[in-house]
Amino acid sequence: MKDRFNRKIDYLRVSITDRCNLRCIYCMPAEGVRPIEHRDILRYEEMVRIVRIAAGYGITNVRLTGGEPLVRKGLPTLIKAVREIDGIKSISLTTNGVLLKGYAHILSSSGLDRINISLDSLRPDRYREITRGGSIAEVWQGIEEAEKAGLNPIKINVVPIKGFNDDEIIPFAQLTIEKPYHVRFIEFMPIGPKDIWERGKCIPCARIKSIVQGIGRLEPVKGKKAGPAVYYRLEGARGLIGFISPISNHFCSECNRIRLTADGKLRPCLFSDEEIDLKTAMQNGASDEDIGRILEGAVFSKPKGHGLDKRRFEVVRPMSRIGG
Ligand code: 5AD
Ligand code: SF4
Repeated sequence: MKDRFNRKIDYLRVSITDRCNLRCIYCMPAEGVRPIEHRDILRYEEMVRIVRIAAGYGITNVRLTGGEPLVRKGLPTLIKAVREIDGIKSISLTTNGVLLKGYAHILSSSGLDRINISLDSLRPDRYREITRGGSIAEVWQGIEEAEKAGLNPIKINVVPIKGFNDDEIIPFAQLTIEKPYHVRFIEFMPIGPKDIWERGKCIPCARIKSIVQGIGRLEPVKGKKAGPAVYYRLEGARGLIGFISPISNHFCSECNRIRLTADGKLRPCLFSDEEIDLKTAMQNGASDEDIGRILEGAVFSKPKGHGLDKRRFEVVRPMSRIGG
């Protein structure tokens, strides 16, 4: 599928639940977000059907997100079903890692290829504070199990926030020296609870990079361009360091994705609240062709860019209901 701006759309992010076992401060208010009613959440069969139809329209990569996808029961069954769809080349998962320990092997044997773990601090006390109660020990156990299960490469997503965890940029970068992980720094985006984001708290990737360069030379890693991250390697390191700059250098012109929310809405752009209701169409008996046309329509309506540099901006749907 090509959109109006000649971007090839081959990547579908599927949020399988809006529920989460954490309450990260930049994602949710302390009391959480009112969950989507169970009856409004797509059944796995409905998700599989949508992915199957989307594969016929050129979707090759699927990422499962949340909320926290591991809190929804039966995830291995979903992965197996998606694995069997012709045309789907890769299945990945974004998780906070807390429940990963008991899950990594079965996810891998069900057909999951890769995993991204959101981890914003290496310090147990600060991790607990950022996530409002999470245990970093569990995340580390989960990461180890994922490594053993062959979920490679393991990507660790870090959102540096000024005055909060920016003193950990170097420790995170150093992690790649011993471990083959891809540590990816993501600019803090104005999405989530209203009073949390301020422009001054977002650290541009150029700044993060110069901090990392304080400990060693960064060699560009060529030919690794399967998404918005730009990768480097610290001399002699086993892992990689990636920079994702949605704010300072928005990569909208290369955007290859659409999103499906757990309540069955297609979202052409993370930063736009335009949504197309697939669930109601399905309930009204839409055929595969009807659904295909709706998918094409969503791709057609992808905006050229988020224009965050020009507009003040608010996204109504909470991040935990979009899936990052
Ligand atoms: N800015 C940047 N990244 C965010 N995420 C959630 N909220 C934000 C934000 N405001 C990230 C999480 C996770 C992914 C799903 O989205 O850290 O890695
Ligand atoms: Fe949960 Fe992810 Fe939001 Fe943290 S960022 S509260 S792990 S959905």
